[in-house]
Amino acid sequence: MNHVIASVAALSATVREFQIRRRDGAPLPDWQPGSHIVLRFLAAGGSAFEKHYSLIGVPGQADSYRIAVQREEQGKGGSRCLHDEFGPGSEVEVSGPFNSFPLQPAGPASAAGAAGAAGSAGAAGAAGSAGAAGAAGAAGSAGPAGSSGAARPRVLLVAGGIGITPLVSMAHALAAQQRPFELHYLAHSAGRLVLMEELRVIGQAAKLAARQAPALASIVTHLSQDSGRADLTALLGPYSAGDSFYACGPAALLQALAAAGNRLGWPAAAMHFESFGPRAQQEDAPLTVELALSGVTVEVPPGTPILEALIAADVFVSYECKRGECGSCYTPVLEGEPLHRDVCLTPAMRSTGMCTCVSWAAAPGRLVLEL
Ligand SMILES: Cc1cc2nc3c(=O)[nH]c(=O)nc-3n(C[C@H](O)[C@H](O)[C@H](O)COP(=O)(O)OP(=O)(O)OC[C@H]3O[C@@H](n4cnc5c(N)ncnc54)[C@H](O)[C@@H]3O)c2cc1C
Ligand code: FES
Repeated sequence: MNHVIASVAALSATVREFQIRRRDGAPLPDWQPGSHIVLRFLAAGGSAFEKHYSLIGVPGQADSYRIAVQREEQGKGGSRCLHDEFGPGSEVEVSGPFNSFPLQPAGPASAAGAAGAAGSAGAAGAAGSAGAAGAAGAAGSAGPAGSSGAARPRVLLVAGGIGITPLVSMAHALAAQQRPFELHYLAHSAGRLVLMEELRVIGQAAKLAARQAPALASIVTHLSQDSGRADLTALLGPYSAGDSFYACGPAALLQALAAAGNRLGWPAAAMHFESFGPRAQQEDAPLTVELALSGVTVEVPPGTPILEALIAADVFVSYECKRGECGSCYTPVLEGEPLHRDVCLTPAMRSTGMCTCVSWAAAPGRLVLEL
């Protein structure tokens, strides 16, 4: 094991922050906003785990990595093991950092917008408000394009639950680059919010950097316990050239955001998603997949991704993320009705095919694929 846990802190009833250093004390590799590491560790009972965790904090070179791990009661037990068995001095293997969720550099329009914002005199410069319904109301009254009135590109960061982790590093980076952004943090209740103090400090720093300019950072919480489900259509608003959003959270939230973005005219290239992996869908009905070109039939049990069943049956398939984010596993569907669970396909692509890594089929559970 090449790394050691330096410290552990509770961020909420179900989330713990782990700081991880190299055993030899050497500096860790540089990392970028949105990056994650792969952690390998052994449970006391001998089970081996390999889990991915987004890096939080200020991107760059550092002496330690910070990760925030949510305890999942169901599942294979990796997060339970970290919570219950791992403390300061525990050894882990780390590889990475890797980045499948990079923050795109500001385009020409965005840079011009930021410069224009910095140069405009007399505006309020209010930023960094965090809270529940009040803050949500403030953002709503400012309008989705922020309060500048100028046509500056918007960068939206949308987090659902523990999906806040990669967005914290993006918020740090955007504030450091003086690029205006809105962070929307969706959670069930205030007790589930984590890293709020860090977000407040980012908001304050952005406010100071902006001085007389319009707000650089707007940080808004949406608590479903208080105000029901967030209105994603209002949150995104219509697309303008140069706008982009980055969303991380439960698959259902990401799918709803993708659908809202499609309805509002957001191009696929402006919508960036990272999920923390598909949830096992044990409630799905069993599925028969017939491959028209090879004449093979594959029975897929609930909870097994179609892609995995195809790989196990020695079918040649392309894939990359296995989380419905990249489209590499897209396969034309000749018969049957897919249940789409990806966050990357356009409506036109969905009408002719599916991502086999996450999607399933409606009753009667039969698909004919062009494979
Ligand atoms: C790029 C990336 C970054 C990530 N970053 C983070 C991060 O910053 N913080 C974090 O906490 N996690 C993160 N994750 C997720 C993390 O890697 C683990 O998946 C997570 O800790 C859960 O591991 P587990 O072994 O406890 O559960 P897993 O077995 O991996 O379960 C994953 C999910 O499926 C659900 N599930 C599994 N089986 C069932 C079932 N039978 N019925 C219902 N639900 C089920 C679990 O409740 C859980 O929500 C990230 C994942 C990726 C891919
Ligand atoms: S492998 Fe990336 S969407 Fe399926």
